[in-house]
Amino acid sequence: MILGDARASGPRVPDDVWEFPRVTGNSAERCPWHPTQHPLALMERIIKFSTKPGDLVLDYFMGTGTTLRSCMKLGRSCVTADISLNYCQRVAEETGCQFQPVAKDQSIT
Ligand SMILES: C[S@@+](CC[C@H](N)C(=O)[O-])C[C@H]1O[C@@H](n2cnc3c(N)ncnc32)[C@H](O)[C@@H]1O
Repeated sequence: MILGDARASGPRVPDDVWEFPRVTGNSAERCPWHPTQHPLALMERIIKFSTKPGDLVLDYFMGTGTTLRSCMKLGRSCVTADISLNYCQRVAEETGCQFQPVAKDQSIT
């Protein structure tokens, strides 16, 4: 496409600034136990354009598991981790995913 091409404007073509509603306190997806939750719609867009169904996605800063939840919805595999045992336990409970605690000085093989 060339500069000024009408096909590059409008809601179907993401620009370099994306806007998503915040995950507010009364939102259905809100996990009140985490302070910096990202919107599912944001992760879904990133995963859709950067992976194919069946691909494996890694997210080492899981938080509320937004990446994992998006992968489950979109048919991608996901390995995720967080330094907080509490967050890992909560996400495992809510998603039904397997969870393996690892000591800080222990590596996964
Ligand atoms: C910005 S939050 C991630 C939010 C997540 N994208 C979501 O939507 O919920 C960053 C997460 O990284 C975790 N974290 C910070 N340092 C870490 C480390 N060294 N190893 C693994 N996780 C870490 C924090 O506990 C926090 O949950």
